[in-house]
Amino acid sequence: MAAPAALPKSPDDPVSAVRSFNRFYTRQIGVLDEHLLNSRFSLTEMRVLYELAHRHGTTAADLCNDLGLDPGYLSRIVQRFEKEGLLARVRSSRDARQSNLSLTARGKRTFAPFEARSAEQMGQILARLGPAEQKRLLQAMTSIEGLLDPKACRSDSYVLRPHRPGDMGWVVHRHGVLYSQEYGYDERFESLVAEIVAHFVQHFDPNRDACWIAEKNGEIVGSIFLVKKSKTVAKLRLLLVEPSARGLGIGKRLIQECIRFARPAGYKKIVLWTQSELHAAHRLYEQAGFKLAGKKSHDSWGRKGLVAETWELKL
Ligand SMILES: CC(C)(COP(=O)(O)OP(=O)(O)OC[C@H]1O[C@@H](n2cnc3c(N)ncnc32)[C@H](O)[C@@H]1OP(=O)(O)O)[C@@H](O)C(=O)NCCC(=O)NCCS
Repeated sequence: MAAPAALPKSPDDPVSAVRSFNRFYTRQIGVLDEHLLNSRFSLTEMRVLYELAHRHGTTAADLCNDLGLDPGYLSRIVQRFEKEGLLARVRSSRDARQSNLSLTARGKRTFAPFEARSAEQMGQILARLGPAEQKRLLQAMTSIEGLLDPKACRSDSYVLRPHRPGDMGWVVHRHGVLYSQEYGYDERFESLVAEIVAHFVQHFDPNRDACWIAEKNGEIVGSIFLVKKSKTVAKLRLLLVEPSARGLGIGKRLIQECIRFARPAGYKKIVLWTQSELHAAHRLYEQAGFKLAGKKSHDSWGRKGLVAETWELKL
């Protein structure tokens, strides 16, 4: 039977849009078959079997918590599995009121083919997509998990890479958006950033200029530039880290990369221009050895009484 066409999504009704996505996705992965993977087990029973197969002893209370199950419902499933010889209970040594649940040899033999079939089914779905599409799909899934459960998904890993087509647009856009949200700068600030990146690209000398783009889970989360000011002086510019990725050391690492690049490139000094209100950045500049070299008040980007600061690092 052909799959019904996806329902139109209304941006005004996010609840319907998400429910429509859920119906679409569960149809894609076939979990609405009452008995999953042609087995005699329901989706919930299969989830319980999966957890028991992948944990070394767990309690009913833990399973209820982690799977969000009603204790009475889980108890009925456990009793059925026990009766069928799939599951064994051993009284917990830590808490006499609790039993550790684990699959018996028979339970493991019963579950193994389902796991293999499930992996095969997902392999078939992924085989319809090319490598770039698979990457997009996984990124989208990571985004969903990260948005719905940020704590569980917060990982500290990120990569730095050189700039490539499309990055300058990101740098301009995110500076415009974030400085507007965080400091109330208007779009004239964004236009200044656009001028800086345009100049960077048009005069790029790989021996004297560099840009690092930070990526996390395949998404850009940060940037920094080091550009030639004179033969012996480099300028550090456009340090930015997305709020979702702050505090992981990315800002510090981006500054370190600039310093590491500047020395062999022949620079004797790095200078930078900043605003007195960018406190987190100043702490990082100080930690890297930069010293405040000058201050000047100005009215810019829709804000009055800003204080511009120049900082320097002798190499
Ligand atoms: C500055 C910025 C790049 C830092 O990025 P980051 O990836 O969070 O930086 P790190 O994780 O390496 O370090 C953050 C440090 O700032 C400190 N920090 C965070 N907020 C701070 C604040 N309001 N005041 C002082 N220090 C602060 C943290 O404690 C941490 O220091 P620690 O390592 O000694 O604990 C990021 O906050 C940002 O993009 N800010 C807006 C743009 C900006 O100010 N750019 C500088 C342009 S000159």
